[in-house]
Parts: sequence; C-alpha cells; structure tokens
Amino acid sequence: MAKKSGTLKPTHEMKGSLRSEAGEAKGVRVYVGDCRDMLPEIPQVKRGEVDLVFADPPFNWSRAYDEWHDKMPREDYLDFTYAWLDLCVDALRDHGAIWVNIPDDTCAEIVLHLKERKLTMINWCVWHYRFGQNTKTRFINSKVHALYFAKNARNRRWNAEEVLEVSDRASTYFDPRTMDKRDGMPAGKRLPMDVWYGEYWGRIQGNNKERRHGHDNQLPEVYLERVIRATSNPGDLVLDPFLGSGTTGVVAHALGRGFIGTEFSGANAKRAFERIENGPIRLGALKDAVTAIHKPRRKAPAAAAK
Ligand SMILES: C[S@@+](CC[C@H](N)C(=O)[O-])C[C@H]1O[C@@H](n2cnc3c(N)ncnc32)[C@H](O)[C@@H]1O
Repeated sequence: MAKKSGTLKPTHEMKGSLRSEAGEAKGVRVYVGDCRDMLPEIPQVKRGEVDLVFADPPFNWSRAYDEWHDKMPREDYLDFTYAWLDLCVDALRDHGAIWVNIPDDTCAEIVLHLKERKLTMINWCVWHYRFGQNTKTRFINSKVHALYFAKNARNRRWNAEEVLEVSDRASTYFDPRTMDKRDGMPAGKRLPMDVWYGEYWGRIQGNNKERRHGHDNQLPEVYLERVIRATSNPGDLVLDPFLGSGTTGVVAHALGRGFIGTEFSGANAKRAFERIENGPIRLGALKDAVTAIHKPRRKAPAAAAK
C-alpha cells in the first residue's frame, strides 16, 4: 500500500477537486489493491463524501481475471461481499445511492444485506443481453440484475429528464394522446422500463467498438451512462470499487463527475486510467432511443397522409 504521511496516494491521478458538496468534483483517482484494504484509507470514502457507488464485483465464477482469484469457498465469497458492501454504504452521503451489478446466484443475499443496512430499494432492474452461455439442461442465462438502493429515499438524486426515451405509444402505435399528455413528461417520451436491452446493450464481445483488450466482463457504456445521468449530478463524486476496464470511470468523467476507482490488478488499472483519459465512444447514444419490440402497427400518420 503506497502511503505517505498517513495518506494513501492514488496510483493514477487526474488533477481536480473531489469536493462534491460544492458541486466541484471533477478529478479522477485510481488506487491499486484489494478494495477492502483501499477504501478505508481513501479520504473521501473515510469521510462519507461519495454521492454514487456503482459496483460490478467478481461473480466467483472462476473467471480468468488478470490477478484476482475468482473462485472462493461460498462462505468466504459472502464474507467478501458483505465487507465491500458495508464499506461502500458507509462511504455514501445522505442523498447517496448504490447500484450493484450481480447475477442470480448472489442477488438475494445482496438485497437482504442492503435492506438490513436500512437502505431503500428504488428499482430492481434487469440488464438483458443476447449470447449468454449456451446450455442443454436449463434455460440460457441472459440477464444480470442491476440493483438500485438509496440511503435516504426521500432525499436522493433523480434526473428523469436526462434519460427519457420514446414511448411505444409514440414510436409504434402513433397514439395521438401521447403527444398532448399532461404527466409532466415531454410529448411522446417516458422513462425507460426496468428491463434494459436494445442497440448498444449487448455484452461487449467480438468486434464491438467498445471492446477493451483483456476483459471479458466489460459493461456497455450505455448502462453506465443511464445510471450516472439519472442518479447523480454534474460535480458529484462517483465510486467504483471494481474498476475493471474502467467503464464507470470513463463515463463518469465525461459527464463531469469526479471519480474514485479501486482495482486489484495494476495492469487493469493502468489501462482503465488511459481509457478514462481518452474518453467514451458512445456518449449520447441513448438520446431519444426507441425500445419497442413490436413493429409499428400501421403507417405513421404523416406517411399515411401521402
Ligand atoms: C466484473 S469486473 C468489472 C468490470 C467493469 N465493470 C467493466 O465494465 O470493465 C471485476 C473487476 O474487479 C477486480 N477485482 C476483483 N476483486 C477485487 C478486489 N477485492 N478489489 C478490487 N478489485 C477487484 C477484477 O480484477 C476485475 O477487473
């Protein structure tokens, strides 16, 4: 652990304040090591100054991570899970929120633990992707859970206008009522549903332009863009304890948030930091997205009139 006069020094750093209370968090700090050792030593974490946590932990599925051994005895994995969850919860400000990306096998334990910690579940979202592992003896897995919990449900960040998409009523049914509705949302728009899928939402594989060398668990940029835009403000401080290829960091920085990441592998951390410096490639791709799964039921009114 690289300590100097009692202060943990980041391994990679982009200068800039991390004072989110004044809306000034802009800097980036990346720490290499086990998040359970690093988080208690990071000043903003110690002082509970984090506005948003996004965590995509190792799933204990024997994945070939660069350095992390991804196969613990189940009890040890649960102890590990509760330890990092507690550190992240303690890092949050009163208005703060935590998102956890987790598959079926440990989802229930995390939900219960966060409830025991007196957080409130705001959404239990599902990230649906195609091309899950093929199987013959059970249904093919095609989802991961995206759990959204708030420390204080009545005092949380929520920026609906940042993440609206075109409603099915507008894109598929051409229902005129959606154009003059009075629900506070713009004409023809609504919030996304809690199952996330569509263009750019696939697993990052093959020749996907987002793909980073050496990572088979990289999340799509659109996922982090939705989470960060909806549940944090510019100048807020975002924390990711499992940095990986750096998806949370690259999107948070591009959206004007400060960022702290911890990562067990020094090589991953270095590449993630370079990615944060270079910037995302899909920012804004979800603007006015259409996610309807049915074809339009009739011709669009303008086309029908011709
Ligand atoms: C599922 S991946 C994260 C992927 C990331 N969300 C992305 O989009 O690239 C988990 C990462 O956590 C790292 N890791 C595993 N255990 C860790 C620990 N105890 N502390 C910090 N990092 C850890 C692994 O090296 C791996 O890079």
